Amino acid sequence: MEVVLLPTPEDCGRVVADAVVGSVLPALARGGPVVLGLATGSSPLLAYRELLRRHREEGLDLTGVQAFLLDEYVGLPAGHPESYREVIRRELTDALGLDPAVVHGPDGAAADPLQAARDYEQQLLAAGPVVVQVLGIGSNGHVGFNEPGSSLASRTRVKTLTEQTRADNARFFGGDVEAVPRHVITQGLGTILGAEHLVLVATGEGKAAAVAAAVEGPLTASCPGSVLQLHPHVTLVVDEAAGNRLERADHHRYVLAHKLASQGW
Ligand code: GLP
Repeated sequence: MEVVLLPTPEDCGRVVADAVVGSVLPALARGGPVVLGLATGSSPLLAYRELLRRHREEGLDLTGVQAFLLDEYVGLPAGHPESYREVIRRELTDALGLDPAVVHGPDGAAADPLQAARDYEQQLLAAGPVVVQVLGIGSNGHVGFNEPGSSLASRTRVKTLTEQTRADNARFFGGDVEAVPRHVITQGLGTILGAEHLVLVATGEGKAAAVAAAVEGPLTASCPGSVLQLHPHVTLVVDEAAGNRLERADHHRYVLAHKLASQGW
């Protein structure tokens, strides 16, 4: 796992954008559909803004990608402003010029969410592999909506949120915890491991414990983010605040300072 410790969240946004572009553009150049895995939440927003800036100012063109979301709330009607499909359109894909038809997510409004989860897993497997998956991490170590205790081999399914996650996400629902759905459909940890490159971004002191547990703790369902230790190509991008509990921080800074130009992300 490459841990990239950077001074500011803006620096993190630039590196995440570099990593995404570095995986997606060569895949587009090879031809054929390219699957880009997107996350919602506040962590990737600066990276998405950087991608949009490059689109506007530098001609970055991601036409040809199929975007797949990690997760979705169950029970919000289609088009609800806080449904993750709407959030990602608003924050990224519309302004990138991507047709909504190439932006996929679990159908959280389906009458049968369990079947919708199985269908999404099949849709992703048929379209994949995901060339690069953007990830955040919850303050309790969750990835996607795989809460602590999630099987490290899990596939896309319905999960019940912890009260902590509902409270964390209430800020997107006007501060009203009761407005945050209790259930979600999320790619499983095993599903996420199927992506070719995982790029996890975390910023701020509030993520420091989760980052340290994911990187340096044991491989355990109690910290779903620790599953990244099983993946051969992980770029973990953190600012100094989110990295301040990493015991090997000095080594990570040393590795970054001596990175070979040919190593890429
Ligand atoms: C959310 C999302 C995750 C996200 C995490 C952290 O609930 N389901 O995909 O990574 O929690 O969110 P944030 O980036 O807003 O801190």
